[in-house]
Amino acid sequence: MYYINNELLMLVFNNLYCGVYITDCKGTSLCVNKPFEEMSGISSDEIVGKTMQELVEKKYFSASASLLVLESKKPAAATYNTKTNKKLLARGKPIFNKNGNIEYVINTVFDLTVVDYKDRIDRDGVRESYLNEENFITYSNEMLEIVDLLLKIASMDTTVLITGESGVGKGVIASMLHKASNRKNQAFIKINCAAIPETLFESELFGYEDGAFTGAKKSGKYGLFELANKGIIFLDEISEIPLHVQAKLLNVIEDKSFLKIGGQKFTNVDVKIVAATNKNLLQLVDEGKFREDLYYRLNVIHINIPPLRERKDDIKPLITYFINKYNEKYNCFKKISKSLMSILEESPWYGNVRELENTIERLIITSKGDLITESDLSLRSGRDNYTIKIKLEDILSNYEKEILYKAKNTYKSTREIAKVFGVSQATVVRKLKKYKINNL
Ligand SMILES: Nc1ncnc2c1ncn2[C@@H]1O[C@H](COP(=O)(O)OP(=O)(O)OP(=O)(O)O)[C@@H](O)[C@H]1O
Ligand SMILES: [Mg+2]
Repeated sequence: MYYINNELLMLVFNNLYCGVYITDCKGTSLCVNKPFEEMSGISSDEIVGKTMQELVEKKYFSASASLLVLESKKPAAATYNTKTNKKLLARGKPIFNKNGNIEYVINTVFDLTVVDYKDRIDRDGVRESYLNEENFITYSNEMLEIVDLLLKIASMDTTVLITGESGVGKGVIASMLHKASNRKNQAFIKINCAAIPETLFESELFGYEDGAFTGAKKSGKYGLFELANKGIIFLDEISEIPLHVQAKLLNVIEDKSFLKIGGQKFTNVDVKIVAATNKNLLQLVDEGKFREDLYYRLNVIHINIPPLRERKDDIKPLITYFINKYNEKYNCFKKISKSLMSILEESPWYGNVRELENTIERLIITSKGDLITESDLSLRSGRDNYTIKIKLEDILSNYEKEILYKAKNTYKSTREIAKVFGVSQATVVRKLKKYKINNL
């Protein structure tokens, strides 16, 4: 039997493929290993002896897994940016003394910084072959960074939150994450939280035991969490989960187990949770509609997909891709004129990739010749953009959406917008919601 001595322990400590960051029960930084210093660019002298609260305040770190652990007395993870512009993921574990109090928090830290020139060429190869397989168009730097991050974190068991406006590709990213992960041969269960009636939520997600309530099936019912065991559960439109179910979901994330309705004993599950929303969850937290603790548990890795108008480099490749796709589908050989291409590239695409795809499909179907030009559009010229719609109803609602979008960026409150347009505040709120421009 070989006994590990201090010297060997130190060798291991400083030669791991991850950083280690240890704090005490008050969040005071006790020590870090060499890999942590290297990946963060922060030396141990700068931080040892300081509390995590202080370091977060001084912007050394934008968040802290240790603080989450100390608060909840349970393992927790957090992604954060460092003052040196690195993006790290820390997974913290509480170590208890014999009185049951936390003595230390041990964090293992991983580098999520995307631009890493050393393995860039290697990764470009991996990324390239992955993307070719997926038919997923990404030319802009913003999207390439997202794909790099996705490939890096796909096999980590942490929760992932995907945000972005409607139609940016949140659903596609979630399923790509599944395919890139070590759970790819296990279930990928997608749940549209907006589509489940509030009263059925709990039984859908967690199931019930034999005869739990009148009308319940005799044999009981599996919940989706149980069905997703070992795989990934994708909670789409997560903001729509009722508050009481949010509490239960938080427990599943923390304890990896739950009680079925009418159940006596806990069911264990090993499920990776991916959530998506086009709402501003922090705003919902402020309004008391979304639990803050759940928000932080979900937001361990945050993938925010920018709207198409903020990554214009993707537009042309997407158009080319959709032209080919729909030419094939409708057995055509159509092309797009140069001038139409530049109009489409400058269009604001409030409905993002989905709107672009629908537009191209419609153009392929409705255009007359093999060269699709501006005249094939039912064109409305704005001051600085063009929007393509065919039905009058669409033209009007698109115009209304554009005006509201500009107003939302110009005025501070919905009350002010209501005053300017001479309508009620409720109307403004309803329309902002309808066009999903509430959270811009
Ligand atoms: N980069 C891309 N390459 C190819 N197709 C894409 C890309 N991004 C999105 N799409 C397509 O655009 C459509 C919308 O994508 P998706 O449904 O994932 O958006 P979403 O963000 O989930 O929208 P919502 O919030 O409305 O659910 C889909 O048909 C998808 O295949
Ligand atoms: Mg979606």
